[in-house]
Amino acid sequence: MAQTLYERLGGTNAIAAVVDDFVARCAKDGRINGKFARSDIPRLKKMLIDQVCEAAGGPCTYAGRDMKETHAGMGVTSGEFDALVQDLVASLDQFDVSKGDQGELLGVLSPMKSYVVEIDSPETGAPLPGSYQPAPPLG
Ligand code: HEM
Repeated sequence: MAQTLYERLGGTNAIAAVVDDFVARCAKDGRINGKFARSDIPRLKKMLIDQVCEAAGGPCTYAGRDMKETHAGMGVTSGEFDALVQDLVASLDQFDVSKGDQGELLGVLSPMKSYVVEIDSPETGAPLPGSYQPAPPLG
C-alpha cells in the first residue's frame, strides 16, 4: 500500500521537530514576528502539529480555532503570508523533506490563504493590532 504523506514525513515526532524549527524561524523573522508577540507558543506548536498531522492523513484531530476566526483582525498582508511560507520551506529543507512532499503539504495548507490574509500588500513587519484577541493558553 502507498504510504500516506504523514508516514513519509516520518510521523508525529518528525512533524513536531519541523514545527519546533519553523516556530523558532518565525520568532526570529522580523517580517512576521510582531504578529506572534502575544501568543501562547506551546499552544501554537501543539495546534500546528495537530493540524499538519491531520492534513497529512495522520492519526490526529485538530481541535483549535478555525482558520478564519484565528487570523481575523491580525491584519496579515500577502507579503507576510509569503514570508511565513518561506520560513516553512526552510524548515522542511532543513529536515530533508523532499520537494515532492513539500509540494503536497503546501497544497493542503495554501488554500487556507484566503482565511488568513486581510491586506493585499507586499509590505511586511506590520505589528499585531491591539484589538486582536489571542487564544487562551492550553490548560
Ligand atoms: C496557510 C497558512 C497558515 C496556517 C495553516 C496557519 C495555521 C494556524 C494555526 C493552526 C494556528 C493555531 C490556532 C489556535 O491556537 O487555535 C495559528 C495561529 C496563529 N497564526 Fe497562523 N496559519 C497560517 C498563516 C499565518 C500567517 C501568514 C501569520 C502571520 C504572519 C499567522 C499568524 C498566526 C498567529 C500570530 C497565531 C496565534 C494566534 C493566537 O495567539 O491565538 N498565521 N495559525
